[in-house]
Amino acid sequence: MRIARRAERIEPFYVMEVAKAAARLARDVARSDRPMVFLNIGEPDFTAPPLVREAAERAVRGGATQYTHAVGLEPLRAAISGWYRQRFGLDVPARRIVVTAGASAALQLACLALIEAGDEVLMPDPSYPCNRHFVSAAEGTAVLVPTTAADRFQLSAAQVETHWGPRTRGVLLASPSNPTGTSIDPQELRRILDVVRARGGIAITDEIYLGLSHDDRYGQSALALDDQVISINSFSKYFNMTGWRLGWMVMPEELVPVVERLAQNLFICASTVAQHAALACFEPDSIAEYERRRAAFKERRDWFIPALESVGLPVPVMPDGAFYAWADCSAWCDRLGLPGSWELAFEIMDKAHVAVTPGRDFGTADTHRFIRFSTASSLEHLHEAVRRLRAMAP
Ligand SMILES: Cc1ncc(COP(=O)(O)O)c(C=O)c1O
Repeated sequence: MRIARRAERIEPFYVMEVAKAAARLARDVARSDRPMVFLNIGEPDFTAPPLVREAAERAVRGGATQYTHAVGLEPLRAAISGWYRQRFGLDVPARRIVVTAGASAALQLACLALIEAGDEVLMPDPSYPCNRHFVSAAEGTAVLVPTTAADRFQLSAAQVETHWGPRTRGVLLASPSNPTGTSIDPQELRRILDVVRARGGIAITDEIYLGLSHDDRYGQSALALDDQVISINSFSKYFNMTGWRLGWMVMPEELVPVVERLAQNLFICASTVAQHAALACFEPDSIAEYERRRAAFKERRDWFIPALESVGLPVPVMPDGAFYAWADCSAWCDRLGLPGSWELAFEIMDKAHVAVTPGRDFGTADTHRFIRFSTASSLEHLHEAVRRLRAMAP
């Protein structure tokens, strides 16, 4: 069968190999005194809180299960607009918000609406692998620009200027980032947006982890700086609704009819049941629960990062959000005589029964030196993981 080139260009998720091996080993060691601890998972260990689940049940019982408008339920768009006002002090009118099937659909819609075949999009290395694949599925080219700890593993304005070429269409940033949990410094972001605007480009900011910010210096949306930004968001992370497949995007008003047309054709709408359920996310009781969970993520980070460092796995930049730790494992690799983090991930899995994610999927520049730990796991599991890492530390 002849496969389209655009499909061939999408690389496999190497982490799935690690995840599959971890699942196999987990079965073998399930009854041992050291069952598998999974620190490779990129989703909250919490699930949707009670009011959200009840709202979903009510929607199903009441038969509220037919298509909605492609742009989403009006009350949900209004509730998201209210969330920007309440949480970020921003005026983001509901008419600029389109509800989507997760951030993933929002990113696809943004790329299909704005990227021509051959356009280049600058993004940081390391970054979330699907983001470069959304660009290539739209027949654009993702240009990965190596970043450093000094720039919080994010692009700098100087790099955007240097790498801007005749085919550059814009930038795709994620703040806080997966895999590093670090955000762009707001002043640097201001400068990046100025560079993009001066060149007539686009800025897509993936803000899916913004709700899980642990530091006021970084916890603001790029929309506060520039209302031309296309901001991607989701109910997956802060709102703990990964499998419900619900997200949204905020865009300049003139883009809404374009995205609406694409969404009508490609998706018809996001899940109706999930949309009704999501309305309950903004109830005071739900928000109180989400804030307790956000505090739990921060508590885990505050314990886990120094603990990792104490076993010789330093985290060059303290994550200010999300639930990841991007740890430099080069000293471990050297001492164990391993070529890089890919081999080390298997070694840690086999020896310590701790599943982790090697850097490989997230870029090419320096990723063989890094391992991503997810702290979307109980403190008890994190303690156990560190105990085992300490025992095998070279
Ligand atoms: C940075 C980033 N963007 C987008 C997504 C996709 O999220 P969603 O579940 O909303 O499609 C993820 C999921 O892990 C992510 O880490």
